[in-house]
Amino acid sequence: MRLLEGRHHIVIPCSPGIAPFLARELRDLKMPVIEERATSVSTKGDFADVVRLNLNLCTGQRVLWRLASFTASDPDQLYEKLMPLNWEELVPVDGYFSVTSVVETPTIRDSRFANLRVKDAIVDRLRRCHGRRPDSGPLRDQLVFHLFWQQDEVKIYLDTSGPTLAQRGYRLDPGKAPLRETLAAALILASGWRGAQTFINPMCGSGTLAIEAALLAQRRIPGLLRQHYSFQSLAGYKNMELLSLRAQALREARPDRKIRLIASDHDPLMIKVAKENAVRAGVAGVIEFITCDFAETPVPSSANPGGVLLCNPEYGVRLGEEEELKITYRRLGDFLKQKAAGYEAFIFSGNRNLLKEVGLRPARRWFFDNGGIPCELAAYPLYAGSQTKPETVSEPVNPA
Ligand SMILES: C[S@@+](CC[C@H](N)C(=O)[O-])C[C@H]1O[C@@H](n2cnc3c(N)ncnc32)[C@H](O)[C@@H]1O
Repeated sequence: MRLLEGRHHIVIPCSPGIAPFLARELRDLKMPVIEERATSVSTKGDFADVVRLNLNLCTGQRVLWRLASFTASDPDQLYEKLMPLNWEELVPVDGYFSVTSVVETPTIRDSRFANLRVKDAIVDRLRRCHGRRPDSGPLRDQLVFHLFWQQDEVKIYLDTSGPTLAQRGYRLDPGKAPLRETLAAALILASGWRGAQTFINPMCGSGTLAIEAALLAQRRIPGLLRQHYSFQSLAGYKNMELLSLRAQALREARPDRKIRLIASDHDPLMIKVAKENAVRAGVAGVIEFITCDFAETPVPSSANPGGVLLCNPEYGVRLGEEEELKITYRRLGDFLKQKAAGYEAFIFSGNRNLLKEVGLRPARRWFFDNGGIPCELAAYPLYAGSQTKPETVSEPVNPA
């Protein structure tokens, strides 16, 4: 069996809450959604689709190409069933690979042992083919194989991305408590903002939200920024496909599209970092960066209905203290009520108590995870005649 030919299962892991947005991205790319789970979405396609997904997806973590699935009840069976695969089609004899895994099977207590058996099978097969063996180790910057072994069900994947797709390449200095780029992109998609109206991002930190919003509106796909993917380390891989997809993406990008984004932070160092990140992302020209308290952020008139104001204030776990932050959230609520009429406001926070201090009832909530902390994005439509009322009761709103 040729391992890179034909249509295979493709699995794209994501963090909790993101799967619906990832599934939407797949459908937009005309890929079938076979299964949507809490932390992954599956599709099916050929290897050209894998390259396309790596370049285009904004919310997925990595693109896993299924090489084989079979049953194995112990490490020796695993080795025996992996050996016949044509690893020499994938791994250059002088190449380097690493193995990652998720293992839940009674015969394995330490997943590193399963990884070792995968490595042995690949190395022994290549030694038999070429008389020499490739190198292997923990680095994920070249070829990566991923073992998923649950009870006696084994699935072995080529991780075609390597380092997470969240690493777009523009954020060298993350600042304090930054959002992962994939999560920031999901928040923009949830907000519904696509560039027609003003986008305001008070408390912008390193600028991730404003930068992801600008990239999305100008159709600059992540693959225009990121330099390397694991699939480029495949034996005999020619960059032609990647180059032609990049060229097509450049033709489809709209860097001249007029959009208006305002990003502010009271910390001048964060504004400097955010500006540098925006320069690297190629969107510095469309984001107006301002050093000010969030309440002084300019909010262009509500004659522009449908504008989006999205912010990610500190929420007291990693930075700041809850009591102090209550004042910030109350002031944020006042700012929204007094200055942001005509906009739809969104607050992303990991602290429900603090969100209550805003004093507005969210019309909608989406639930996510940020670095292991359950978080939510709360939506407050503030346009005339909207349903947002001052909060009098705190009743749960169903997750989307
Ligand atoms: C959680 S961080 C935002 C991180 C950002 N989303 C990112 O990806 O980098 C919160 C930011 O709010 C800023 N901030 C806190 N209080 C503020 C205030 N009163 N006015 C303006 N900015 C404030 C902090 O300087 C910090 O950069």
